[in-house]
Amino acid sequence: MCGIVGYTGSEQAKGIILDGLKKLEYRGYDSAGIALQNKEGILVRKKQGKIADLEAFIKGERLVGTTGIGHTRWATHGVPSDLNAHPHTSSDGEIAVVHNGIVENYVELRNRLIEKNNIKFDTETDTEVIAKLIGVLHRQNGGNLEDAVYDAVKEMSGAYAIGVVSSNEKDKIVAYRKDAPLIAGVGNGCKFIASDIPALLKYVNDICLIENDEMVVCTPDEVKIYDSSRRPVKRDIMKVNWSIEDAEKGGYEHFMLKEIYEQPKAVEETLLRRIGDDGKIKLDGISLTAEDVKNFSKVYIVACGTAYHAGMLGKYVIEKMARIPVEIDVASEFRYRNPVVDEKTLFIAISQSGETLDTLAALREAKRCGARILSICNVVGSSVARESDDVFYTWAGPEIAVASTKAYTTQLVCMYLIGLYLADLMGTISKEYYDGIVRELMVMPAKITEALKRSNEIEELAKHLYNRTQVFFIGRGVDSAVALEGSLKLKEISYINSFAIAAGELKHGTIALMEPETIVIAIATQDYLFDKMYSNIVEVKARMAHVVSIAKEGNTKIEKESTETIYIPDCADEVTPILSVVPLQLFAYYVAKIKGEDIDKPRNLAKSVTVE
Ligand code: AGP
Repeated sequence: MCGIVGYTGSEQAKGIILDGLKKLEYRGYDSAGIALQNKEGILVRKKQGKIADLEAFIKGERLVGTTGIGHTRWATHGVPSDLNAHPHTSSDGEIAVVHNGIVENYVELRNRLIEKNNIKFDTETDTEVIAKLIGVLHRQNGGNLEDAVYDAVKEMSGAYAIGVVSSNEKDKIVAYRKDAPLIAGVGNGCKFIASDIPALLKYVNDICLIENDEMVVCTPDEVKIYDSSRRPVKRDIMKVNWSIEDAEKGGYEHFMLKEIYEQPKAVEETLLRRIGDDGKIKLDGISLTAEDVKNFSKVYIVACGTAYHAGMLGKYVIEKMARIPVEIDVASEFRYRNPVVDEKTLFIAISQSGETLDTLAALREAKRCGARILSICNVVGSSVARESDDVFYTWAGPEIAVASTKAYTTQLVCMYLIGLYLADLMGTISKEYYDGIVRELMVMPAKITEALKRSNEIEELAKHLYNRTQVFFIGRGVDSAVALEGSLKLKEISYINSFAIAAGELKHGTIALMEPETIVIAIATQDYLFDKMYSNIVEVKARMAHVVSIAKEGNTKIEKESTETIYIPDCADEVTPILSVVPLQLFAYYVAKIKGEDIDKPRNLAKSVTVE
């Protein structure tokens, strides 16, 4: 997510803004910039890379000004670059804008500004469109910044927060919030705007929360808030006594818990703009034609860790829907097995960071063999993304915790979208089925929220089971892929030895490990496989196992053979993994928390494994 900071007061703004941006670094970013208002007008300095790179870039310059705005950019539209970094300016350079979020109709606005106002654009970003639009409106209305911002946002659709300064309205920042976070800071003779509390805590503890569709006007002596009809809004000041560290986690104790709870929003972002008003899937960034798809003899999905588990689900989805054979492999094995890959192979690389060396090396091997490369990444402009023919971003926002959660669920959603897209091009599914799965995906954010409400139940369960030394995860069909992910979560943050196995495979040896009170987490969400799964649960119960079942609401029969049952909202069999993983994430989290482990930075692990 991008970060916004603004200051107006009696001090020099540059250092204050850069300080604030540094406190937003945890949100992840790939470029940074500032705009300062002084008697020379609006000075903009911006740089790809870290804030330290920006500081080096402006070192020695006398950048004065007691009002300004700053930004850290997490690229979505337009690769990370100096040019695409914020702030962006109006054509006459009198106005500067910083922006967090997306303007869905930016292409239409941009084309209109080109045609009607003969505006020239330097970048592909939606943010530059905001700056140019406000500039045109500002000139047309005789230079009233509030009017220009207000008229501009009326034309913009999407989810965004913006901060704006103008060279001809001294000591003023105008900001607007629509579905992206924005707060105002209230200091003595100085005021702030920011995307998040950490940016301000060094200077103020008095905060004004800005609600949706509100404009805020900051001058050194006051913060004025207006609603969408421009009526003044009275907003109480909130005193924040969080530490900086607490605030970066938005009040959550760990980034992992914060990211588990961000999943409804993250999945919503993944789906946003990819399902048109006609209900048809639009895969931006993917240029596969029906001819291309019909030419593929197979799909090869390659990844590591959690991304590999998402790929396993992808195999089920693509084979079931598009009837294209899918091979799947962990990247570290793929490149050394002399894989059968050629120009008739669609190679799908899945990587949250886009920097995992094993996955990158596998991608290069597949490319060398002539395959078409499609990657599913979370980091825009990452190495895997750059080296792919097509890239499909998860748009989950930065994932800070080493244990992947929201990246996984958004990777699953990408697999469903790609599976449906391929099936539609192959003509292998009916419109009713296609529309049905699309409807199921559209309600997933709300259902994940429902699944999260079981959190207390799961914490209680963790209190009883945290000291076990061995945990089995079992499942059939898509549940066996989720079992792998649940086991990895538990292993990597609680250090409890756990493993996942296809439930039907237990009797071929592994069940010899079963002892009284062995924990078995049985994921049993597939209606068509329920009877088989039920028999496996009876099998382990007969050996005195402690069975925790994960099942769809309404399936009460499973309680008969389960020690505990955790329910997820009812949904189609195909899409249950997006929900069934949630209790497993929470279980791993609470077990590790009770054990006092370092949840966000587990021992021996790195967030991105850039070595072989
Ligand atoms: C997942 O919780 C782990 N942190 C790890 O398995 C991770 O999924 C794997 O290293 C792949 O990372 P990537 O998605 O960034 O390529």
